[in-house]
Amino acid sequence: MAEVLSVRGLTKSFGAIAVASDIDFDVAEGEIVGVIGPNGAGKTTLFGMLSGHVVPSAGRLSFRGEDITSLATHERARRGIARTYQIPRPFGQMTVFDNLRVAATFGAGLSGAEATEWIERTIATTGLNRYAGTLAGRLPLLVRKRHELARALAMRPKLLLIDEVAAGLTEEEVSEFIELVRHIRNMGSTVIWIEHVIRTMLTATDRLMALAGGKVLAIGKPHDVIKLPEVQRVYLGA
Ligand SMILES: Nc1ncnc2c1ncn2[C@@H]1O[C@H](COP(=O)(O)OP(=O)(O)OP(=O)(O)O)[C@@H](O)[C@H]1O
Ligand SMILES: [Mg+2]
Repeated sequence: MAEVLSVRGLTKSFGAIAVASDIDFDVAEGEIVGVIGPNGAGKTTLFGMLSGHVVPSAGRLSFRGEDITSLATHERARRGIARTYQIPRPFGQMTVFDNLRVAATFGAGLSGAEATEWIERTIATTGLNRYAGTLAGRLPLLVRKRHELARALAMRPKLLLIDEVAAGLTEEEVSEFIELVRHIRNMGSTVIWIEHVIRTMLTATDRLMALAGGKVLAIGKPHDVIKLPEVQRVYLGA
């Protein structure tokens, strides 16, 4: 399979604290790669560097064969990198539909009927039909998470970065999310997915990356990674 993303030597320090140290990995087209790691491991910071919100101290990123290291957030979005936020960031005073319109317009560069069609499809995919006219700030928790995912999806991503959607959800809701993410992948997106819930990651991902202290402990088949003593020690406290 073709490589979508190549990360080489990615490093980030806040003052004296290294939050990412020399991170290397590749993601192939159509993969769902999970990211686990204890609180403060640097998972969200890694996403920030992929999306362009956090400027790395060193390292290179290449996306679909193009060096994107020095591209701004909106330039990466236009090339197809979209992310969700651990704490959803909708425009609370706008409806679900209009939130998605913003994403489709500025993220995917769509307009007119094409934008409307894509938004309607995104709403159907994410099960938000009932809420299309609801103000985003008024959505219940699970729906807010679906909406956060929908906003990223409305950008028509080639690479979708999901930062913890399963926390606080019931098993059934988590299963729905897994189905949804698989569906998104089958529609043509590659996915990197941060989640603390190990069972979700084992079920949902093709490969798993374990981070700790800003370093990649391991990346590989989910069940293999989880069995490694260093992962057990750092992540599961075993
Ligand atoms: N802007 C910043 N300035 C200073 N330190 C920061 C900044 N952003 C993150 N950090 C620190 O970097 C470390 C990694 O944070 P990050 O949010 O990437 O962790 P995480 O793996 O996503 O954790 P969690 O599982 O809690 O979401 C933490 O120690 C955090 O306090
Ligand atoms: Mg985080």
